[in-house]
Amino acid sequence: MTIDFDKVVDRSNTSSLKWDRFNPDVIPLWVADMDFQSAPGIIEALHQRIDHGVFGYTEPDNELEQRVVERCRNLYQWAIQPDWIVWMPGLVSALNVCVRAYADEGESVISPVPVYYPFLTAPALGGRQLKTVDWVQQDGQWVLDLASLEKKITHDSRLLMLCNPQNPNGRVFSRAELETLEQFCKKHNLTVCSDEVHCDLILDRNVKHIPYASISEFARTHSVTLMSPSKTFNLAGFGCAFAIIPDGKLRHKFNRVRKGIVPDPDNMLIGFTATKAAYRHGEPWRQALLEYLRGNHDFLVKAINDIPGLAMEPLQATYLAWIDVSALGLEDPHSFFEQAGVGLSPGKQFGDGNYLRLNFGCCRSLLEEAVERMAKAIKQF
Ligand SMILES: Cc1ncc(COP(=O)(O)O)c(C=O)c1O
Repeated sequence: MTIDFDKVVDRSNTSSLKWDRFNPDVIPLWVADMDFQSAPGIIEALHQRIDHGVFGYTEPDNELEQRVVERCRNLYQWAIQPDWIVWMPGLVSALNVCVRAYADEGESVISPVPVYYPFLTAPALGGRQLKTVDWVQQDGQWVLDLASLEKKITHDSRLLMLCNPQNPNGRVFSRAELETLEQFCKKHNLTVCSDEVHCDLILDRNVKHIPYASISEFARTHSVTLMSPSKTFNLAGFGCAFAIIPDGKLRHKFNRVRKGIVPDPDNMLIGFTATKAAYRHGEPWRQALLEYLRGNHDFLVKAINDIPGLAMEPLQATYLAWIDVSALGLEDPHSFFEQAGVGLSPGKQFGDGNYLRLNFGCCRSLLEEAVERMAKAIKQF
């Protein structure tokens, strides 16, 4: 399939959160959406549905749920059943529902750090305590420091939030790591909320995504898995995601918390249309996307590491680079690069101010221009 990911799509005046955040002369490489047009099969399906002209309440049909089931089986060798799927208008809501469903008020919830920031805010928003487990470097690889967590854990720790693949360091847990995590959760009687929204975006060809819930009976019956087509197919503006909750009691708890507050799926007509088309037609487009992202990634790793004061480890997954800027000794690295014309995400937001996050889901020419601006700003500093 030939898709021109180099094509520049003008996103000005499209109410784009990403492109409206900074001055027009700043290249926005922050929030996690891509600048690419979505897959042609999705756009075509949306046109057809829009042309019908009647947009009443909806429901997920059999084909849609079968597509999710098939996808889990074909891509991740995970056998799920349609009635385990709980449709959600977004995964941030799902993270917050999990916190409230599986820990009581005052009890504690564990999140990795650094991490996508709603993992850090959800416990306090729900009146639960946040405990953290650090990502640390070991033999040139990011690993979760479970030994330190073991010392912090208390009798009221209820839920472990995982982000796999990890936003922002791009790690994908190996089977051995998942097994260690599962043993840890068994020992401490923890339910897991595993956010796997980036699972279709594996860049490293030697790495495979394994859903946490698929590794054992205990993991299956003590977890919620969160997935969505929104990152993979660039559909974030539609609000269509799902939780997979195999255990009936956990599903009931989740639904009890969401009921009447999180919109029911009957509002998700456009999201369902796009998701069904993505899972029916999107695979060749996804493969082409991965090729393009791998090219951007390889370019970026080299270019960033060539700039004195910046460092970046290769990523296993995601289009979100995690750049160490600590050697520059800047008080506010985010503002420094914004003034240089590149809008990044501050690492502080994810729990580590020594870093900046750069979204390379954009055409190569824009990425090259951004890196040039960063290098020039550092040279003049
Ligand atoms: C790990 C992770 N979870 C959830 C989300 C957001 O999901 P949603 O837009 O469905 O709320 C993101 C977006 O970047 C993410 O990286």
